[in-house]
Amino acid sequence: MNETNVPSHIGFIMDGNGRWAKKRAMPRNFGHKQGAAVFKKTINWCRELGIRAATFYAFSTENWKRPEDEVKGIMNLLRQYIKDIREMARENVRFVFIGELTAFDEDIRTELLDIMEDSKQYTDFIAGVALNYGGRAEIAKAARELAAKCVLGEMRPEDITEDLIEKRLYTSEFPPLDLVIRPSGEQRLSNFLIWQAAYAEFVFMDVLWPDFKKKDLEYAIQEYAGRSRRFGGI
Ligand code: IPE
Ligand code: IPE
Ligand code: MG
Repeated sequence: MNETNVPSHIGFIMDGNGRWAKKRAMPRNFGHKQGAAVFKKTINWCRELGIRAATFYAFSTENWKRPEDEVKGIMNLLRQYIKDIREMARENVRFVFIGELTAFDEDIRTELLDIMEDSKQYTDFIAGVALNYGGRAEIAKAARELAAKCVLGEMRPEDITEDLIEKRLYTSEFPPLDLVIRPSGEQRLSNFLIWQAAYAEFVFMDVLWPDFKKKDLEYAIQEYAGRSRRFGGI
């Protein structure tokens, strides 16, 4: 594979867990559990393939609409999974949890903040995990912060630039988002990294997330390598 055509940052919309479970006549949370296992494997595959960063959409600001038992199941899975994430972080992976973490129970929030702080030193790979994340909420947050500075007289509205907004997004320390992969057959962003994806390439795949394999990732990267990105130029 041509080195220069390897995406530096991939976004994964981990979708299709529910349908995967349904096909097996199992509860939806069984699908989430399988999905979490694939998340862990995908981090390793990305590293093997020379990717520097990946962000995984795990729970959106809109996912609270789901039935209470499903949301509870996902929170419990997250609790169990924190241990694994800690272990992965020890392998030189920096974890950044993006989204409004105050919505989570205290024990989960403390662990997440802890892992983020402890893994700041690692530079091999950045793993973003989007939890209670919404792209619109992220942009609104940046706008609020800049507006507050204006009110304090620290800056003027006309000083607000794209760059200043970008610096206040959760991904400010990530390389540019080059590729978004969405399995499950849906072809939409569902509020995932909407600012960052302005010039990203998209690969939509029919595979359900719990069935996602290294060969699917390789296919998406190959597909990306063949795209002609013009960024508005010719
Ligand atoms: C994605 O899988 C995981 C979360 C949103 C938490 P879904 O649960 O959306 O699976 P489908 O789309 O219903 O199959
Ligand atoms: C997007 O999937 C959110 C995550 C994968 C975490 P959804 O299943 O929530 O998206 P929609 O509802 O199909 O757009
Ligand atoms: Mg879905």
